[in-house]
Amino acid sequence: MTKKIAIMTTGGDCSGLNSVVRRLAVAGISRGHKMIGILDGTDGLSRENAPHFIEFDYNTLPAENARLSGSYLRNGNSHSLNFETAAKSGQHEIFSARMKKAMAILGLDAMILVGGNGSLSMANKTRALYSDLQLIGIPKTIDMDIPLTDTTIGFATAVQQLAGFCDQLILTARSHHRWFIVQTMGRNVGMLALSAGIAAGADAILMPEIKFVPENLAAHCEKIQTGQGRDYGIIIVAEGIRIRGHSGEPAEIISRLLKKRDIHNRVSFPEHIQRAGDTTAPDRILAAQMADCALAAIENNETNMMVAIRDGVCKTVSLADMFAAGDIKPDPNIPGLSVSDALVPPDHPLLSVAMNMGIYIGERK
Ligand code: F6P
Repeated sequence: MTKKIAIMTTGGDCSGLNSVVRRLAVAGISRGHKMIGILDGTDGLSRENAPHFIEFDYNTLPAENARLSGSYLRNGNSHSLNFETAAKSGQHEIFSARMKKAMAILGLDAMILVGGNGSLSMANKTRALYSDLQLIGIPKTIDMDIPLTDTTIGFATAVQQLAGFCDQLILTARSHHRWFIVQTMGRNVGMLALSAGIAAGADAILMPEIKFVPENLAAHCEKIQTGQGRDYGIIIVAEGIRIRGHSGEPAEIISRLLKKRDIHNRVSFPEHIQRAGDTTAPDRILAAQMADCALAAIENNETNMMVAIRDGVCKTVSLADMFAAGDIKPDPNIPGLSVSDALVPPDHPLLSVAMNMGIYIGERK
């Protein structure tokens, strides 16, 4: 049966969004569906009486876009009316009513929401908004903080970007006999830091899930300096770590603590470069897998589901189960919203690999 399906990208961008949009649109059209793209996320959808969208056909799908980062549907303007600004200004009901009306005006049978932890947690909370259509989520984020999926769109490319960034830094580190403290994104979760640190051959990786002792980190660097005669290297610090008694950027705190021990260092912030970069092959393959699974879920009349990779296979899991499976915390940006994080589990195999490679990851027993 032919359906009218909208694709919407929301939340922070990452590389791989254009790949998944193109895969969904091309495969959806060839399977006989009418595919549209909502422009500017929920901002564009909720424009009064005039949702902002494009109809996909083979001409509106420039092939080169499929490998570029960002989203050519755009993710929305953080200053206009959206879940965050509406919650803060007490306009949640007006905003929700506009969203529901827009989906009715468009005559949608289904909405594919390509979103991160915040967007998918919000979709779970506000599922009544989508009661007249099918809602399917596709998990995308560099943070890898979405429960019940082994991977997310954008993660592999972010790790590649960070590895490339560290590859450049290590050369200047060697020239100047100094260490670089590189702060990664990842919000409350350390998976990006852990993976990037292993990929880059870092000497230490600090992440929110594992307690660490700054003196032991310093001793680790000193041991490399005296034992291996190497007075430079990379220390990866996840943005989500906290150090008791200190405030400010975690990488700067670590830098100061190491300087006190005469470990010469500089701090470096790759920032949004982690969300950029041409989409790597693993992310493109993932985009194809998830697009195929999302369209199949719509054809099977599923709703309030998220596609997820489990042991290499793409399946659907309910948004409610996804939310319940994580570490539930209040969202710092949206009053009243809780988000669910997938923390690095204590038995994650990469933790042992890191330790066996001589990388300091904190006081893991
Ligand atoms: O969730 C993705 C992410 O890139 C986080 O890793 C980071 O903390 C945050 O978004 C940055 O957000 P912004 O682009 O609003 O600064």
